Amino acid sequence: MDIVCTPFGRDRAGHAVLRYTLTEGALSASILTLGGVLQSLTVPDRNGKPVDVVLGFDSAEDYEQQTCYIGALIGRCANRIAEGRFVLNGQAYQLACNENGTTHLHGGKIGFDKRQWITSIHSEGLSLQYHSPAGEEGYPGALHAAVTYRLTANSLIIDYHAESDTPTPCNLTNHSYFNLDGHGAGPVGGQRIRLNAARYTPIDAASIPTGEIAATQGTPMDLTRETPLGAHWDDDFEQLRLAGGYDHNFIVDGAFGTLRPAARVSSERTGIIMDVDTTMPGMQLYTGNFLRADMPAGKGGVKYAPRHGFCLETQYYPSALTLPQFPQPVLRPGETYRHQTVFRFSAE
Ligand code: GLA
Repeated sequence: MDIVCTPFGRDRAGHAVLRYTLTEGALSASILTLGGVLQSLTVPDRNGKPVDVVLGFDSAEDYEQQTCYIGALIGRCANRIAEGRFVLNGQAYQLACNENGTTHLHGGKIGFDKRQWITSIHSEGLSLQYHSPAGEEGYPGALHAAVTYRLTANSLIIDYHAESDTPTPCNLTNHSYFNLDGHGAGPVGGQRIRLNAARYTPIDAASIPTGEIAATQGTPMDLTRETPLGAHWDDDFEQLRLAGGYDHNFIVDGAFGTLRPAARVSSERTGIIMDVDTTMPGMQLYTGNFLRADMPAGKGGVKYAPRHGFCLETQYYPSALTLPQFPQPVLRPGETYRHQTVFRFSAE
């Protein structure tokens, strides 16, 4: 694997942002020190032509301005925690509530997505580290996170590791918006998705899971057979109305902790197929319902708007800390948090 480092401007605080471009055969991925953002991911289409399949920006300033977590690493705890409140080891904690002042979302006001990560290059790939001090965004204890991005001939592999000196919630993910027609190609409704998930966690009006585990069968949430992303996203179905499309946690079939297939998405236009495997218990399918048309122009000056990208955020179920029946994303001293997600590409 070839790794090249280039400057990518400065963040608001004046620190240099670097971009590392990894290349392996026909695949290439660019990663920023700011937010550990996956800034580009280029894969060959059915004719061997390179296509950049993730949304992104051309400057650090644009990344700091947008509020959609585009391409970033998310932590300490991805997705929502109801009222930002939880009890751990008999102690109550209050986290920063950065969504409507009532919900903790994607790690808080200054989550891992807005932090500068320290990089190191090794034979395996690019490793990014972030040390989250005790009390940051209200979380207990200090947490050390290490995320490795690496490429094989056909895959982008993301490994997540973390350790902590105190029991703490930990739920790390990557928030890339994919468009297999190319990042600037517009709505993704025609791309076909198949999820290896017979169940999901329904949400309430604040997008917090109700605690119920529901079967997808017989509803528009059933994506176990290949379906265009846009076939049902506007259906008159309460769960879709609440979120303005798909923005739900699906329970990945099979034993969590083992790497198993979670999703497949394909584009008729480019022939690109993306398979997602993960060790995580769940995956948020988000169809970019809140992608803001007023955010800075994307790479090459293209404009992104709602539903111009889809996210597959592998994760512990949202708000699991307030719902003890869900697998608990709690990391204890002496343990290592270890998860892997693989994005595998082919074309036909
Ligand atoms: C996740 C959430 C969405 C939204 C996006 C970012 O997918 O579930 O509701 O917050 O992140 O905009």
